[in-house]
Amino acid sequence: MAIYPDLEGATVIVTGGAGGIGEAITRAFVAQGARVGVLDLDNPRGESLAKALSPSVEFVRCDVTDIPALRAAIEQVRARFGPIGILINNAAHDERHATLEVTEEYWDGRVAVNLKHQFFASQAVLPDMIGSKKGSIVNLGSCSWIIGQGGMPAYTASKSAVLGLTRSLARDFGEHGVRVNAVAPGWIMTERQLELWVTPETEKEIYANQCIKRPLVPDDIARVVVFLSSDDASAITNQHYVVDGGWN
Ligand SMILES: NC(=O)c1ccc[n+]([C@@H]2O[C@H](COP(=O)([O-])OP(=O)(O)OC[C@H]3O[C@@H](n4cnc5c(N)ncnc54)[C@H](O)[C@@H]3O)[C@@H](O)[C@H]2O)c1
Repeated sequence: MAIYPDLEGATVIVTGGAGGIGEAITRAFVAQGARVGVLDLDNPRGESLAKALSPSVEFVRCDVTDIPALRAAIEQVRARFGPIGILINNAAHDERHATLEVTEEYWDGRVAVNLKHQFFASQAVLPDMIGSKKGSIVNLGSCSWIIGQGGMPAYTASKSAVLGLTRSLARDFGEHGVRVNAVAPGWIMTERQLELWVTPETEKEIYANQCIKRPLVPDDIARVVVFLSSDDASAITNQHYVVDGGWN
């Protein structure tokens, strides 16, 4: 992995940073010499990651759908590591659902876990970034809505809205030196995907659709996220970066 010297000592927040792609992003920033606040629901994974990467990681058990708790968790990271310079809005949940069975409450819950916290985490760190005239926010989107995937409309609707949120924040805060980009993963072989969805049949589908004939792994996303957060990407903002092995 490339090393970006400006990331050494940076204060980073990764939501959902204890597992899957988020864990790879956490590890990638620690490898850069950054200090990372990991906000995640998963206590055992978060605690063991913080122990393994001590003293560079502060794990805060937090449900990102609880906005006061999200704000308090960000404050806890700020108190330990200083003003937040980089925010990675990664937490999400891709539970499948059937349109005819979705209740209003369920819909609101899907939007809360897949979109709403990205706005409120950004709102909570923007004053730090404005104060230091520099910052990077990377919002994790998804290729699912681009390829027209069915079976989880509240997820795909939320993930398409991540792009609108990204472009609006990029426009409003660029004058303060804050860059905001979205990364849209294709199908990434996390533990959860392998356990729940990847079968010999779906593997054939992946290789038929991707230009690159290898499984995509969490590090493929982490590398792009770290690059977009570094000064090497200082002219890149307001963008939607697709990392899908050429599926689209
Ligand atoms: N894996 C893929 O193929 C894929 C494809 C497209 C987009 N994405 C996006 O990439 C990002 C990471 O996905 P992933 O596959 O690593 O997911 P994952 O389910 O493997 O991991 C998600 C992490 O977020 C945490 N989390 C979930 N709900 C939370 C909540 N309410 N509060 C705090 N933490 C919570 C989980 O504990 C877990 O550590 C997501 O934004 C997802 O939508 C993933």
